[in-house]
Amino acid sequence: MLGLERSKDHPATPTDSRLARLVANTPTALAEKIRSATHLSGERRVVTALFADVVGSTALSAHMDPEDWTGIMNQAFELLVPAVFLYEGTIARLMGDSLLAFFGAPIAHEDDPIRAAHAALEIIATTQRFADEVRRVHGIDFAVRVGLSTGPVVVGDVGSDLVYEYTAMGDAINLAARLQSAARPMTVLIAENTYRFIAPVFECADLGKITIKGKTERIQVYEVVEPKSKPGMLRGLKGLSSPMVGRASELNELIHLTEIVQAGLGRTALVVGEAGLGKSRLVAELKSRLLDDESGTRTFEWVEGHCLSYGQGLAYHLLIDMVRSILGLGDKPSDENNYTYIRQIATHLLGEQAEEITPYLGHLLSLPLEPEVIERIRLTDPQSLQNQYLSSIRRILFAKAAHHPLILVCEDLHWADPSSVELLTKLLTLTNELPILFCFLTRPDRDAPGWRLVNAARDRLGNGLVEINLQSLTETDSRQLVANLLEIEALPEKVRAIILKKAEGNPFFVEEVIRMLIDQEVIVQKNGSWAVEKSIDTVEIPDNLQSLLLARIDRLPEDVKRALRVASVIGRRFSVRVLEQVMERQGY
Ligand SMILES: Nc1ncnc2c1ncn2[C@@H]1O[C@H](COP(=O)(O)OP(=O)(O)OP(=O)(O)O)[C@@H](O)[C@H]1O
Ligand SMILES: [Mg+2]
Repeated sequence: MLGLERSKDHPATPTDSRLARLVANTPTALAEKIRSATHLSGERRVVTALFADVVGSTALSAHMDPEDWTGIMNQAFELLVPAVFLYEGTIARLMGDSLLAFFGAPIAHEDDPIRAAHAALEIIATTQRFADEVRRVHGIDFAVRVGLSTGPVVVGDVGSDLVYEYTAMGDAINLAARLQSAARPMTVLIAENTYRFIAPVFECADLGKITIKGKTERIQVYEVVEPKSKPGMLRGLKGLSSPMVGRASELNELIHLTEIVQAGLGRTALVVGEAGLGKSRLVAELKSRLLDDESGTRTFEWVEGHCLSYGQGLAYHLLIDMVRSILGLGDKPSDENNYTYIRQIATHLLGEQAEEITPYLGHLLSLPLEPEVIERIRLTDPQSLQNQYLSSIRRILFAKAAHHPLILVCEDLHWADPSSVELLTKLLTLTNELPILFCFLTRPDRDAPGWRLVNAARDRLGNGLVEINLQSLTETDSRQLVANLLEIEALPEKVRAIILKKAEGNPFFVEEVIRMLIDQEVIVQKNGSWAVEKSIDTVEIPDNLQSLLLARIDRLPEDVKRALRVASVIGRRFSVRVLEQVMERQGY
């Protein structure tokens, strides 16, 4: 087993001091989050371990001055580590010419495997650029390999110096190391334990089964190729579906708002609810109601901006996504053709005035611009530039709304970046002037920058704002959901009860518990229908459900976290409802 001892009794090795230097550069916001995260000592956490190693470093270093080699490695680590920080991973250890990072400890996110895969691809891309330089200067081929593995790991605490203090152990770490050594140079290799989480979001090449040192059975592996241009659904169960249960009054409220907008007025809808309660589903249902038939498509124009879970530090990322949607750029890659394209659209909408806005829209979207445009923007101060972005977007929206009433959805506002929020706050009053329905979807994260938009809407919009607070599904609706998803003639009451109890009225949790029962082959598909195969007496909380809950726990104040830890030792059961009550009492 690969232990990560860092004994305090031994003098610091060069690797230790290198690690200390690298973690000293942890971005402040991330450092604060790490310091306030749950104490981990000895805790079992589901993490995605990222293992990156330099290909053939012994042979490479043999041909050069050791100091040069150390210099190359120091530089390489300095370039690669920010990719880990960007996705809020932590550096667990440097070992010679390799790096081990964790995604999921000490800060847990619900999408840690996806973050790890992004970081891994970023490491490859950065190395590619660095390797060109190394080849030019030193004449050698510098390359890395990366392995990722997801599973339970026992982790130590992270000290005030942001370095893990004790050992970290677990099969996931060993497998990440083995996968790394089996990977082709400049690729990322994963096994089923990561693939199942990232497959909807990344193109992966199936490399079949391979033999891995230390494993008797051959294991299925995949190479992570690139993010999918159109990511699949992260939610839902393959082959199982249910019509939306309950939520009739909420849907009607939204439909009513669209009627007001169709009549020429502006409105704002705020849909608030904990993760998985069905905010996105509710709005997807609205969309299909409105746009499924031809007349709906002609009546409304539907625009969506999505936030990224790691996007709080990515300036304007929500706004950019929204503007791309407004301009119909969808998931087209950013290239020079896009600039011509947005100029055409703007000209179509605004005639000659288009020239006043296209440079700013192009700049906001990071499209390649003409040199004189770049020069003009370079001379604009940041505040004026922001005003230009704002007025360009306003003008496009005005022109669009002259043709069709607009429905503008901002998804996952709890992850929005402060600069997008600031601009959106300034766009709110458009509802006084235009037939536009803003639809903001957010979890109740009152500390997130996105919540400022919620407060601004409450302050400024009066009756123009309608709030929809999603609650847990009722017992009857939850039962209906289980029945719709699993059309099993005789689903034993015990199994049904377990699903309902674990899920606590959260439709996402209903799906996840069913997923777990399928994974554990408690429920199996036979001749096109589902059947119960085994009895279940003890059901463990599934991996991703657990990390989802842990992700929330990490946002709780210290004493509440302590209380929950105590509770989890007594009886390892997380109750979402209790958690919510505790949060409410704490004023969260
Ligand atoms: N009322 C419902 N009836 C049937 N299925 C539902 C219902 N609400 C949600 N679901 C399903 O539950 C899963 C989670 O819902 P959804 O993704 O909409 O949650 P969310 O509130 O948007 O969560 P997040 O905050 O993480 O974005 C989805 O697969 C969705 O289709
Ligand atoms: Mg959602």
